Amino acid sequence: MICTTFPKNACVLVRVDLNVPMHKNQVTDDTRIRLIVPTLKALRSAGNQCILMAHLGRPKGKDLSFSLQALIPTLNYFLHETVAFIPDATQVLEDIPSNAYVLLENLRFYPGEEANDTIFAQHLARLGDFYVNEAFSVSHRAHASIVGVPSYLPHAAGLLFQQELDALRQLTEYPDPPVLAIVGGNKISTKLGLLYNLLEKASSLAVGGGLANTLLAAQGYTLGRSPCELLMLDQAREFLKKAEKQACQLILPVDVVVRTEENAAHICSINDIPLGAHCLDVGPATSHQIAQEIACAGTILWNGPLGRFEEPPFHRATEMMMRAIAVETQRRKILSVIGGGDSVAALNAVKIDFSCFTYVSTSGGAFLEFLEGADLPGVRALNTQNP
Ligand code: 3PG
Repeated sequence: MICTTFPKNACVLVRVDLNVPMHKNQVTDDTRIRLIVPTLKALRSAGNQCILMAHLGRPKGKDLSFSLQALIPTLNYFLHETVAFIPDATQVLEDIPSNAYVLLENLRFYPGEEANDTIFAQHLARLGDFYVNEAFSVSHRAHASIVGVPSYLPHAAGLLFQQELDALRQLTEYPDPPVLAIVGGNKISTKLGLLYNLLEKASSLAVGGGLANTLLAAQGYTLGRSPCELLMLDQAREFLKKAEKQACQLILPVDVVVRTEENAAHICSINDIPLGAHCLDVGPATSHQIAQEIACAGTILWNGPLGRFEEPPFHRATEMMMRAIAVETQRRKILSVIGGGDSVAALNAVKIDFSCFTYVSTSGGAFLEFLEGADLPGVRALNTQNP
C-alpha cells in the first residue's frame, strides 16, 4: 500500500532517513531531505499531522553531537513550515505539540530502537494513527522504527520508498540485456557479496576505485602506495578464480591515474606504477573500454565511484562514465540505476541531474543488501497485514 491511500486528517508517524552528511552542525548535503518532501507534502495536503522519526549517525547512547535538532533549519526551509522538535522521543502523546510537522530526537539515543524493543516500539506507535516508511535506506535494519512500529499500526510505503523498490525490482527481475554493472568505492570487503552476485547476473562487470586496487594486487601487480585491503587478498584471489569460470566479462583497469610523490597526476599502465605513487582513478584506456560497454548496454547498474572524485583531476573517469550513461539513458531509454552515498555525492559534485537516469538511489547498505538478494526487514514489515 502507498501512503497517499490513507484516510485524511490523521496523525501519521513517518520514518524518514535524515542520516545526512554534517559539518560543524550544518547539513552539507541535503539530497536525502529534498527527496522526502513530496511524501510529507502529500500527507500534509490530506490534512495529516506528520511526526517524523529518524536517526543520525551511530551514537553510543545519548550523545548530543548527533542531535537531530541541528536539522530543523533545513527541514523548515524545505517544508515551508516550522517543524517542532521533541528533545525526548519517549515523550507521551499529550506533550506532543500540534504543529503540522514534529521531529523526534535521534531514535538511536534509545537502546530500544536498535534492539527493536517491544515497549519502545509500542510507545512510538501510540504517538500516531498510521505509519509510513519513507526510509528505504534504513530498511536493512530490524530496528523498532522500521519493523516494530508497523506491527502495531496500519502501515504503508512512502512515495520514495515505493519508487526505490520498483526501480530495484525492475533491475533485478526484469533487466534488459546486456547488463553492465559498474562497481567502485574504497573497500572490497563491503562489496564482495555484491560482486559475486553480479558475476552471475551481469554480462559485464567493471570494477574501479580501491576495490580494483585490491583485485589488481591479488593478481600480483605492484601498486606503489595505493589504497588497497591487504587482508582481503586471499578472498580477492578466490573471486578472480570464480570470475574466470563465469560468462560475465570482468573489466579491471588496464591503466590508472596516479598521484606521484611530487603531487602530480600521471597516467600509467598497471604494469608501470611508480613505487611511491597512489592509484586514484582508472585511466583513459580503461574508461574507453567501459564506455564501449555503456554504448551497447540495455541495463546499467552503478555503485561507487571509479576514482577519488572529490579530488580533481581524479574525478574524470567517474564524471565521463556518468555523463555517458546519462546520454544513453536519454537516447536509447535504457534502464540505468545509480546507487550509494558516494555515487550520489559524485553526481552532485559533477552537477549531473538525477533525472538523467532511470533512478538514483541514496541508499547505501540497503541498496547493496537488496542487490545481494537479501529480504530486507523493512520491506517485509510493510508486506505484513495491517493490524
Ligand atoms: C545510511 O546512511 O545508509 C542509513 O541511514 C543507514 O545507516 P546505518 O548504516 O548507520 O544503519
